[in-house]
Amino acid sequence: MNCKTAININKKAVASSFSKAATHYDQFAQLQRDIGSLLLSGLSNKDVQTILDLGCGTGYFSEKISELYPHCKMTCLDLSDGMLAQVEKKQLANVTCLQGDIDNLPFADNHFDLIFSNLVLQWSEDLAACLKQLKGSLTDGGKLHFSTLLNGTLNELTQAWKAVDLHPHTNSFLDLDSIKLQIQQAGFKKVSIKTETRVLHYENVIEVMRALKGIGANHVHGHQAVKLSGRSLIKLLEKGYLPFVNESGQLNLTYQVCYVEAEK
Ligand SMILES: C[S@@+](CC[C@H](N)C(=O)[O-])C[C@H]1O[C@@H](n2cnc3c(N)ncnc32)[C@H](O)[C@@H]1O
Repeated sequence: MNCKTAININKKAVASSFSKAATHYDQFAQLQRDIGSLLLSGLSNKDVQTILDLGCGTGYFSEKISELYPHCKMTCLDLSDGMLAQVEKKQLANVTCLQGDIDNLPFADNHFDLIFSNLVLQWSEDLAACLKQLKGSLTDGGKLHFSTLLNGTLNELTQAWKAVDLHPHTNSFLDLDSIKLQIQQAGFKKVSIKTETRVLHYENVIEVMRALKGIGANHVHGHQAVKLSGRSLIKLLEKGYLPFVNESGQLNLTYQVCYVEAEK
């Protein structure tokens, strides 16, 4: 079990990658849609007054949530001003957009009845501390629903890059035991955790890299982004990917997903 979780993240660089992707994010975000829709289906129809969409992105799910809870007040928080600009374009009623950081939340204790967060917490530099802040900002009995990514995610790409050089080209993800422990240590109760494996398929390595860049998830912590150019580099990466080409000749890319529901 990997319990060493705190890492240093260049938040400006992360925000910049997501902001660059903001205007075309929705075209590339089918996986995020599918995972978020499953997460959304777990929300109860209990009336809630105050909601936080943590790491709201373009606000696709903020809009769905405001349809589910038309009378609630919702805060949409994201690190990226480009993403928040997309939410603002939607002109959702009773929604406040806020630029902020999941690792340094600006909220008072006992504020939200519901926190929804789809595929964001893997960007936290200290998940244990973040979960404690989230628990604090929930009202008693308030619920946290989040999805995140587990180790094994992007494994094929991680392995394939080893044929090119020894630098990290993908971020690492926590294991399930570590996430379970941190949820428990934050003091949540009635915790339910589900996991699933999703494998996406691409025609070639350029498509794989384009898909990550398309949603802005191409920042690698502590490492300068590599532009996939030059025939020889692409050839090397293709060679590294060979063990992960399926029977139809497509490149597999795995996502290990974790869905969590927990109560304060
Ligand atoms: C994969 S997108 C998911 C967006 C949205 N939840 C969805 O389901 O479409 C991840 C989002 O997390 C945001 N993000 C990354 N690091 C963050 C941080 N430290 N604090 C707040 N938001 C962050 C990004 O800007 C991006 O909008």
